[in-house]
Amino acid sequence: MSDPIKNIVLFASGSGSNVENIADYFRDNNQVRIAGVLCNKTNAGVIERCHRLKIPLYCFNREAFKEESGLLALLKGLNPDLLVLAGFLWKIPERFVREFPNQIINIHPALLPKYGGKGMYGAHVHQAVSEAGDTATGITIHWVNAAYDEGNIIRQEHVNIKAGEDPDRIAAKVHELEYTYYPQVIAELLFSDGRQE
Ligand code: GAR
Repeated sequence: MSDPIKNIVLFASGSGSNVENIADYFRDNNQVRIAGVLCNKTNAGVIERCHRLKIPLYCFNREAFKEESGLLALLKGLNPDLLVLAGFLWKIPERFVREFPNQIINIHPALLPKYGGKGMYGAHVHQAVSEAGDTATGITIHWVNAAYDEGNIIRQEHVNIKAGEDPDRIAAKVHELEYTYYPQVIAELLFSDGRQE
């Protein structure tokens, strides 16, 4: 019989507020387990959160990431149903995408294809949106393929902003969307049969 518990593995490089929000969302759900958080930054806020929340944490450096095989073995050992990038800033290697087809998702803090690609992450995105004078921004949840921010879109949500709005205020609005929709989408993907890429 297949394991009735769904395992999520998260990748994070930053403060980890999405990791904590996802962990909170599934805390009382005995069908979902946060099997681990993988982190590539020694001073990332997500590390303290994992200690506090008692989530298994695995840290690695650039060399381990390039070597690939060790991390892949670790990932396979965690038996993930879904790999969730939550503020993870390195490009996922093609081999990972091949090994976990239809199983890796990312959240981007803008309405892709706008403000995507290398160097476009976190505060840089909100700064660019503010400077462009946009009156709406949002989030994009998408499948991960071998190109930055180009996988098929699963869901987008919009929020209105003022032209030239302060990037920190934009960030706060976008974070609210992330906290509302990312866990919901994860739950939908874990419990729907027809995953589409
Ligand atoms: C989130 O806003 C996420 O969308 C963004 O990093 C932030 C991480 O915040 N991801 C990217 O920019 C990916 N290109 P958190 O560490 O507080 O969850």
